[in-house]
Amino acid sequence: MLWLLVGLCGLALVNLSAPHPQATITQKPRFYGVMERRRAVIYCECPLKPPLLVDWFWAKDSDSEAEGPMRPNGSVVIRGKTRWHSAFLLLENVSLSDSGVYYCQVNGTRGAGTGLQVMRESLSLGSGARRTQAWPTRFLISRLSDAFIQRD
Ligand SMILES: *[C@@H]1O[C@H](CO)[C@@H](O)[C@H](O)[C@H]1NC(C)=O
Ligand SMILES: *[C@@H]1O[C@H](CO)[C@@H](O)[C@H](O)[C@H]1NC(C)=O
Ligand SMILES: *[C@@H]1O[C@H](CO)[C@@H](O)[C@H](O)[C@H]1NC(C)=O
Repeated sequence: MLWLLVGLCGLALVNLSAPHPQATITQKPRFYGVMERRRAVIYCECPLKPPLLVDWFWAKDSDSEAEGPMRPNGSVVIRGKTRWHSAFLLLENVSLSDSGVYYCQVNGTRGAGTGLQVMRESLSLGSGARRTQAWPTRFLISRLSDAFIQRD
């Protein structure tokens, strides 16, 4: 009986000191720069099968204590993992004060965090830039095609 107890305690210690490798949580992206009033999506990947308890925490910076769990509302959307997509956090209409570090937690295990930097929309860009939501992509494509043409 004693040996059984010792064995059980040993197992418990092993479980505490070496978390199951399958519980690895990967947040994507790790760093995120976004203009104010846009949306930001942070994915939380985890090989565990649903149902999973996914919570999100926010900290002012990586040295500050995280607050949470965050509650969904009109501008905060929280979705769990499904067959088709990873769990994610969607922030609508971000403001400068949404900057910080966002941590995904799956069944009690926390991810490494995603640094979100919300940038003030430059006055010189004006309202035109706000309407053209996809300009960074277009910019990238035009730069890529520039490079392509140059190589030709
Ligand atoms: C995660 O937590 C949920 C809800 O508490 C539970 O139903 C599920 O079995 C847990 N999954 C794992 C792999 O621990
Ligand atoms: C939603 O919650 C966040 C904090 O998690 C808060 O900053 C924001 O103002 C809230 N938005 C609405 C529409 O209530
Ligand atoms: C976005 O947030 C700003 C404040 O940060 C608010 O003035 C504006 O009405 C919001 N826009 C939408 C579409 O919710």
